[in-house]
Amino acid sequence: MVQQGFEVGTAPGAVPGIGHAWQMMRSPVRFMTSLAAHGDLVRIRIGPSTAYVPCHPELLRRVLTGDQVYDKGGVFYDRARDVAGNGLVTCPHRDHRRQRRLMQGAFTRPQLRHYAGAMQAEIEATTGRWRDGQVIDAFPEFYGLALRVVARTLWSTALGPEDTRGVERAFDTVLNGLFRQMFLPGPLRRLPTPANRRYRSALRHLHEVTRRLVAGYDGKPGPGPAPAGGAAAPGGLDLLGALLAARDEDGGRLGEAELHDQVITVMAAGTETVAATLVWVFHRLAQHPSVAQELYREVDAVLGGRPAAWEDLPALALTDRVVTETLRLHPPGWLFTRLTSTGTELAGVPLPAGSTLVFSPAAVARDPEAFPHPHEFRPDRWLPEEETPLARQAFTAFGAGARKCLGDLYARTEATLALATVLSRWRLEPEPDADVRAVPLATVYRPRRLRLRLTDRTPAAGPEEPGESAESVYRGAEGARGA
Ligand code: HEM
Repeated sequence: MVQQGFEVGTAPGAVPGIGHAWQMMRSPVRFMTSLAAHGDLVRIRIGPSTAYVPCHPELLRRVLTGDQVYDKGGVFYDRARDVAGNGLVTCPHRDHRRQRRLMQGAFTRPQLRHYAGAMQAEIEATTGRWRDGQVIDAFPEFYGLALRVVARTLWSTALGPEDTRGVERAFDTVLNGLFRQMFLPGPLRRLPTPANRRYRSALRHLHEVTRRLVAGYDGKPGPGPAPAGGAAAPGGLDLLGALLAARDEDGGRLGEAELHDQVITVMAAGTETVAATLVWVFHRLAQHPSVAQELYREVDAVLGGRPAAWEDLPALALTDRVVTETLRLHPPGWLFTRLTSTGTELAGVPLPAGSTLVFSPAAVARDPEAFPHPHEFRPDRWLPEEETPLARQAFTAFGAGARKCLGDLYARTEATLALATVLSRWRLEPEPDADVRAVPLATVYRPRRLRLRLTDRTPAAGPEEPGESAESVYRGAEGARGA
C-alpha cells in the first residue's frame, strides 16, 4: 500500500502465539534495523497483538511530535511504570506538562555546569583507581561510574559503597527482569517463579533505598566538589535540591510520591544509557584507529594530560562528534512504545484508539538519504558545514518533540568529560575475546563481552616506544564479531 510516497509493509517470520517477540529478545537491534527493508511503516506482532514500527524518519517525527495522540503506553511503558511509577519518562500526556515544568529547572545550563564538577570528581576517582596493564570489563566499569555520577549529582556527596552496591544490584535485577517482563503474557508475570520473585523483591529494595535516601536528604545546597586541575564548580543546588525547590505556575510543588518517582526515573534513565554510550565509543575507536589518533591529538592539545572540565567542552569538538556518531550507530535506547489515545491515521493506515506503535531510533538511524554511507562510522558528518536538516531529523537517539530526553545535555557532558579524561591518561585496547554482538537490557543494549586493557600514557609510566602512535597501540578488535 502506498500513500504520500510512504510504503506500508509487514515483517516476515512471525511465529504463531509469540509473533516477533523471540526475534526482538534474541537480536533486538538487528531485528529493528532490518525492518526498514519491508517499508516505511512496518507491521510486527508481539504475542497475539499487532504493532506498527515507523522506519522512515518523517513518520517517526510525526509520532514523536504528536505526543497527545501517540501517548506513552504499550509493552515498554506499561512495564517501565513498575519501576519509575508516574515519573517524567513514563507519565501520560495529561500529567506531562506540569511534570516537565517542575523538572526542567534541574537541567538548566548553570545547573549542568554545577553537575559537571560532580561528574569530574567521579570520573577522576574511577580512573585514578586504574593501574597500568589492568584489564577492565567495560560495561560494568562504566555502569558503576555512571551510577555514582547520577547519585552524586542527586545528593552532592558521594554515595557510600554499601548503598552503591545495593542500588547497583537492585537496578541490575530490576532492569534485566523488566526486559523479560515486557514480553511475558500477564498470567505468567504473576506466577511465583524464582525469576518473578527476584524481580519483585529487587523492585521493593530499590523503592526502599530511594525512600530512605529522599527522607534522609538534608536539603542543604551542595558546596560543589572542587575538581583537581579544573576550575572549581560554582555553588548550586544538587538535583534533588533543585527538584525540591521547583514550583509550577500555581506555586505547586512535587509531592513525596512524585519526588520518589522522579529520583528513580533519573537513576534509571541516566545510568545504563551513558554507560552503553561509552562502551560503544571505545568499541568504535578500536575499529577506527585513524579517528582514535585524531582524538588523542585533540585531547592532548586541549588538556595536556589533565582531566577535562566543563570549561573545556567547547574545545573538545571532535570528542563531541565521536559521541554523536556513536549515538547514531548505537542509540542506547533500542525500543520504546506508544499507544494511540484517539483514532488517527499514519501513512494511510487507519489506527483506532488503543493501537500500539513500537519505535527504535536505530531503525531510522541508517537512512541512506539522511546519512550517506549510513553504516560507516564518520564523526565528521557532524561538522557544522556537513550536518544537514535531514540528518538532524533522523538523529533520534534522544527522541524528539515534547517528550525529548530532558537529560540530553547532561548525558553529552558526562560522556564527553569521561571520554576526554580517559584518553588524556590512558590507552585502551580490546582483549582478543571481545564479542560485540548486542545483548539487550531493559532500556539499552550492550556488547556481549568487551574487556579493555589499559596502558598508562603519562611519561612517568615509562618512555613511549619510538614511533609509537595511537594507531599502533589502539589496534582494532578485528577478531570481534559485529553487532
Ligand atoms: C546517552 C544517554 C541517553 C539517551 C540515549 C537517552 C534517550 C532518551 C530518549 C530516546 C528519551 C525519549 C523516550 C520516548 O520518547 O519514549 C528520553 C527521555 C528522557 N530522558 Fe534520556 N537518555 C539519555 C540520558 C539521560 C540522562 C542522563 C537523564 C537524566 C539525568 C535522562 C532523563 C530523561 C528524562 C527525564 C526523559 C523524559 C522526558 C520527557 O518525557 O519529558 N536521560 N531519553
